[in-house]
Amino acid sequence: MKKYGIPTAKYETFTEMDAALQYLDAQSAPIVVKADGLALGKGVIIAETIDDAKRAVQDMMAGGKFGKSGECVVIEEFLTGPEVSVLAFTDGNVVKPMVSSMDHKRALDGDKGLNTGGMGTVAPNPYYTDEVAQRCMEEIFLPTIHAMNAENRTFRGCLYFGLMITPDGPKVIEYNCRFGDPETQVVLPLLESDLLTIMQATASGTLADVDVKFRDEHACCVVVASEGYPLKYDKGFPMTLPETGADTEIYIAGAKLDDNGTLLTNGGRVLGAVARAETLEGAIGKAYNLASEVQFENAYYRKDIGQRALAAKA
Ligand code: GLY
Repeated sequence: MKKYGIPTAKYETFTEMDAALQYLDAQSAPIVVKADGLALGKGVIIAETIDDAKRAVQDMMAGGKFGKSGECVVIEEFLTGPEVSVLAFTDGNVVKPMVSSMDHKRALDGDKGLNTGGMGTVAPNPYYTDEVAQRCMEEIFLPTIHAMNAENRTFRGCLYFGLMITPDGPKVIEYNCRFGDPETQVVLPLLESDLLTIMQATASGTLADVDVKFRDEHACCVVVASEGYPLKYDKGFPMTLPETGADTEIYIAGAKLDDNGTLLTNGGRVLGAVARAETLEGAIGKAYNLASEVQFENAYYRKDIGQRALAAKA
């Protein structure tokens, strides 16, 4: 991003703890410290003071808290603004973004608690206006694809843009070379065009020739998790699932069948209860009705998925 002028937070990467601590002396808080590797969405610390940031660096680099992912840390400027997830198909030439979505990454209501892989989503994201979408295409999406080509690393597939709409315009928080979870659960139900046709065109470099159209509707996913996630939680509880209809779906994630064919919980984020409706209020209401009918012993879900999006629309 630095090399190609793609808007992102100012950052530096460190493999030596002393250099990281020295760099922090010249920065101001709040500031972000990240373990440079997979950490199940938990390797990001927003430090309110420089001392807290130093402690986070020491935990990651000397404390072994994140294993190999903590051997390299990124210290990053703290950006403010609403977050938007945009998944996009690209064949290396054109980019066809899917409908935008809003993840809810914290474990508890009111965006409190620890970071998780995602506790729920709504689509579309009201902060992703037409004007923001146009800027993202010109300043982020196309420059990213061109940069990948310039590096002889042409990317074909689904590219996940994690964006923040800052007072200075949209900036990249993260890329993933995959669909998002739980973003996909609200994006694909709104897809009107044929997914296989799009994927074939993405793979064969003919994406310019196919339509990627979305319904003019809203979707909501409420993640039903095991109480205690993302830290310690029990699993192995039998699950009872509600019937789904034409505009509702249950996507199972952290579960398994035992030898008798009984469905048991087997993870932190157990399933997503998803609904689609003409209005955001309708989608939220239906998704929560569905989630409330899911039964297992330590089921937990946030009660405010979609409320920020509703407030932004008001
Ligand atoms: N929901 C965040 C991700 O899929 O990375």
